[in-house]
Amino acid sequence: MSEQEERLVSSETLDAEEMVEKSLRPTRLSQYIGQQKVKDELTIYIKAAKQRNEALDHVLLYGPPGLGKTTMAMVIANEMDVSIKTTSGPAIEKPGDLVAILNELEPGDVLFIDEIHRLPRVAEELLYSAMEDFYVDIMIGQGPTSHPVHFELPPFTLVGATTRAGMLSAPLRDRFGIICHMEYYDEADLKEIVIRSSDIFDVIIEESGAYEIARRSRGTPRIANRLLKRVRDFAQVTGEGIVTKQIADDALKMLQVDDKGLDYVDQKLLRAMIELYNGGPVGLTTIAVNISEERETVEDMYEPYLIQKGFIKRTQRGRIVTEYAYQHLGYPYNQES
Ligand code: ADE
Repeated sequence: MSEQEERLVSSETLDAEEMVEKSLRPTRLSQYIGQQKVKDELTIYIKAAKQRNEALDHVLLYGPPGLGKTTMAMVIANEMDVSIKTTSGPAIEKPGDLVAILNELEPGDVLFIDEIHRLPRVAEELLYSAMEDFYVDIMIGQGPTSHPVHFELPPFTLVGATTRAGMLSAPLRDRFGIICHMEYYDEADLKEIVIRSSDIFDVIIEESGAYEIARRSRGTPRIANRLLKRVRDFAQVTGEGIVTKQIADDALKMLQVDDKGLDYVDQKLLRAMIELYNGGPVGLTTIAVNISEERETVEDMYEPYLIQKGFIKRTQRGRIVTEYAYQHLGYPYNQES
């Protein structure tokens, strides 16, 4: 594989942290906890495609970061008994980058494109014929010697992941036969994930300890697993290595994760809105600047959870902090409306 291709198609050199992450990933639908609706649908479509000996139709996975979209793409490939090639929208700079990856595909393979909404327009347009009729036409060379080249592709499954389906152009979105919305996990599912991960880490955890981590993980397995690792360290150094509710609670306090699962950035965001803008309405870019975060990070990672849990409301004139958030953070609430 050329150096160029190595950059685009995920290489298998993982650092220690990534190795751990990888070992935590379920590889089969039967091991995947939560997202029941997505699993039920995919189970049927995968079974049907396998019975017909066809590639699975293209799948779009959308939802907030950390909910297991990449994992689900890998599970799909495993269940279909095919290989997966992985890339992301920002990694593809020009059409040739995409063609190099498409060229590697074997019949039935999964091509996973993370952050597909960030694919450059010219690359996105190549995908239209690739997805619909399994070919691409590209121009080779420059100036008078340039000429079109037609590439036939094997049938393949594109799995695209995005944080917001609304950010995809209609022509691209319409080419996905299967569209799955990944939702925040409930506490019961997250608790099971924490227990499963503890098992993989060889950590002894009490059910109440697992629940405490689950409850304060913002509905997100990636956060639950990250907190578990830190709580494990805390248990090892200050306790007897067993994650009890008390140890989890003490560790989470130290990590500045509050009783409702809001982390330092969530709290900073709400406090900035209250103290500097009297609770809003205030625009997203202004909020992001005030807490030194990218607008996109606030929009994808922080805001959806704060809205879902009733701390923020989205209005025509901007975001406003709710009375519930004022109470939670201990500020007096005296808005007129
Ligand atoms: N680890 C992270 N996410 C998971 C999930 N959805 N199911 C099982 N284990 C996980």
